Order: sequence, then structure tokens, then C-alpha cells
Amino acid sequence: MPLDNEIPPDSLIASHAIFTHDPAAESVFAPLRREDPLHRTKAPGHPEFWAVTKHSDIVEIGKRPQIYLNAPMSFLPSNDELSKTKEETGTNNYIRALTHMDAPDHRVYRGVTQSWFMPANLKRLDETIKAVVGEMLDRMASRDGQCDFANDIAPWLPLRVIMRLLGVPESDHPYMLKLTQELLAPEDPDQKRTASTGPRSVRAQVFQDFYDYFKVIVESRRKNPTDDLSSVIANMRIDGNAAPELETLSYFVTLATAGHDTTYATLAGGLLELLRNPAQLAILRTDTASISTAAEEMFRWVSPIKHFVRTASTDTVLRGKTIRAGDHLMLCFPSANRDEEAFDSPSKFHVIRSPNRHLAFGSGVHSCLGQHLARFEVRAFFAEFVRRVKKVELDGDFEYVQSNRASGPKQMPIRYSFN
Ligand code: HEM
Repeated sequence: MPLDNEIPPDSLIASHAIFTHDPAAESVFAPLRREDPLHRTKAPGHPEFWAVTKHSDIVEIGKRPQIYLNAPMSFLPSNDELSKTKEETGTNNYIRALTHMDAPDHRVYRGVTQSWFMPANLKRLDETIKAVVGEMLDRMASRDGQCDFANDIAPWLPLRVIMRLLGVPESDHPYMLKLTQELLAPEDPDQKRTASTGPRSVRAQVFQDFYDYFKVIVESRRKNPTDDLSSVIANMRIDGNAAPELETLSYFVTLATAGHDTTYATLAGGLLELLRNPAQLAILRTDTASISTAAEEMFRWVSPIKHFVRTASTDTVLRGKTIRAGDHLMLCFPSANRDEEAFDSPSKFHVIRSPNRHLAFGSGVHSCLGQHLARFEVRAFFAEFVRRVKKVELDGDFEYVQSNRASGPKQMPIRYSFN
């Protein structure tokens, strides 16, 4: 790892491993923010890109979606991954979702579900979310005072909620979790898929497995539409026509992955930080009004999404540097969320932090569609957790998933007792 003021080697900036012990990878990003906050990065085996590490630059980019495009790639691929994808699809992606679209398509497709994810509509889910939170705490209570919170509890809460919305039966939730991990952690030794089950690449096969699964749901909602979210997506019409199959299935895959992997990371990473800072947990216990600010601090602290990529549509200037048309920019959200110019004492986890203008959900027209749902879930969980759980502590080592796309704790043994 680099010394304090030394710019890290470019290979580290593109690496997945830097997140395994620190959700913000500060040993890499802190020196970059100080020395070269918009850093031209030539990481071996990757396309060149600019590492955008400052909060204000990510906000600026979010304000100019006509210049900083989501197409043609949303995450930084390796060169091998990119050439394989091109060979197999003739494009840069196996998927075409909101995260890959720009105007005018992006607005139209986002509009299909936008109202579903607004707080007024989500209130309808209040009881469902509370019931699932209750099920998770009951599960903890049944475990004899010990569990691996990162595996036994945290994933299943958001998974149950989003899968119920998508009409996926509970017996298939483990399969959805496995596919999500294979997709978002392609370099993690414990979570990646190691061999393809078909003639195409591993990555193509993971997408195909998702698509095969959701094709059945799309088919059923087209035959028998209900008022659920799946029916809205399966039957969406774009400019008066049925939406193409790739875009329809991609919508499902995005919700079925982003809809839980990020929230689980916040639940587990948030609890982890409370356990490492007992005084902060004590604040939550005595002042339940702090649950909302605590949730925001957990989003900031964990920053579950580690980056998204934008590509310049035209020559432009950012932070005094010329960005050429076609240049890729990596938006380093965890770094922005530790930016000393945006937060007081950013390396302190502080449950009553206010204001807290974190960028865990991104910014601009692509900012997270599911952010209100995530807030509902995280708040509901911790409100009930502090009410029911009397004593709780870490009971062994923890480690984060090795991924520069999405990452949360991979193991997190805890010991506890209930009221
Ligand atoms: C802790 C929870 C979550 C975090 C940290 C998170 C983070 C993010 C980030 C960083 C982006 C990209 C923003 C950008 O490009 O500027 C994003 C986009 C998105 N998120 Fe989330 N997310 C979370 C939960 C959810 C949930 C629960 C859902 C769905 C139920 C969801 C669905 C989406 C979708 C569909 C997009 C694409 C939006 C677009 O491109 O217009 N996310 N999220």
C-alpha cells in the first residue's frame, strides 16, 4: 500500500482487492484526493480512465449528463472482459439497463417505474418491510446468541422485499443471491463463478441464467397482468411499442441485483461500524430519532457501490484538465464520501452527522432509483434491532467482498442477547 502522500500505483486504483478491509479504500484514495484528485489512470489490463475522487467533481459530472454519458459502459471492465463481451454481443455490454442509457431513452425507461419507488408509494410497503424485519430478528433470536450477520441475516431482508415485489418465490431467493454475487463480484475468490456451464463466457452465462429466469415471469405477467411491479415492467410500452426483450429483461436484472446487494452491505457494514464504536450504538439506543441520521451515515460510511463509469461525449474541461471525447471517468463514490472538503472529520463514523450530503446514491439524473426503499429498510431494521437486541458484539474477524463494483462484509460473526 502507498505511503501517506504518495500517489498509489495505477494498478491499485482499478483493483478489486483494495476494498476487502476498508470500505472506502482510503490508503489508495486519500493520497489521490490530496495529490491528484482527477488522475489519469493507466492500469495494466484495463482501458485508460480518469479517477474522479472529489465530491464536488462527481456532483459536477452529475449535472452534465449530456456531456458525461452512461453509454457505452457502466463499470470499468478489464480489457479481456471487454474484448470477450464485444466478441459475444457485438457491443460493450450483455445488458441494456437504466445504468447504460442516456437521453432520450433513459428518461422514458426510468419513467416506467419512477413513481413506484417514490416515498408516497413505498408507504404501501411499510407493513411488508416491518414484517420482514420482524422475521429477521426472530431468526436471530432462534440462533442461540450467535450468527454470521453478513450471511445469515443482512442479505435476506432486502432480498425478501425486492423479490416479493418482483414476484420471485422464496424458494428461489438463494439462487437470486448467488447469481447477484457472481455478477457483482467477478473477482472475489468465494463468490465468483469459476467455470461457464455453457459454450459462452462465464459472464455471458451468468446474464443468461438471469434472463432465462425472468423470461418466465415476463411471460406470466403478460398473460395475466396484476398490479405488481413485475407487471409494470413486463408490459411497459416505449413510444407506443412493446419494449424490446433485452431492455425488459435488463430492467429485471438491475432491480434483482441493485435492489438487495447494496442494502445488505449497508445493514452489515453499518452494524459492523456500530460494534466497533459502542458509543455510537449507545446514541441509537437512547435517541431513536437518530435512526434516520444513522442510516445516512451508514450509506456514507459503507458506500456499497464502489464506482460507476461515465464517458465524455465531447471535449470538455474538468478541474482545469482537458477531458477528450471518448475518455472514460471512474466516479469513485467511496472517495467522495471521505472528502475532507465535503465533510467534517470524514474518517469518523458519527450517527448524528448533519448535514450529510453523501454520494452513496450517486447524483444527477442517474441517482439511485431505489434510494427511498433502501432508507425505509435500513431505518426499519435498526429501529427494531435496538428495541429487541440487548447486548451485541463482534465475535471474530470480518472481511469485505473483493469487488470494486459492489461490496459489503463477507463474513461478520456476532454474539448477542435479546431483551
Ligand atoms: C444502500 C442501498 C443502495 C445504494 C448505495 C445504491 C447506489 C446506487 C448508485 C451509486 C447508483 C448510480 C448513481 C449514478 O450513476 O450516479 C444507483 C443507481 C440505481 N439504483 Fe441503487 N443503490 C441502493 C439501493 C437500490 C435499491 C434498493 C434499488 C431498487 C429497488 C436500486 C436500484 C437502482 C437503479 C435502478 C439504478 C439506476 C438508476 C439510473 O441509472 O437512472 N438501488 N444506485
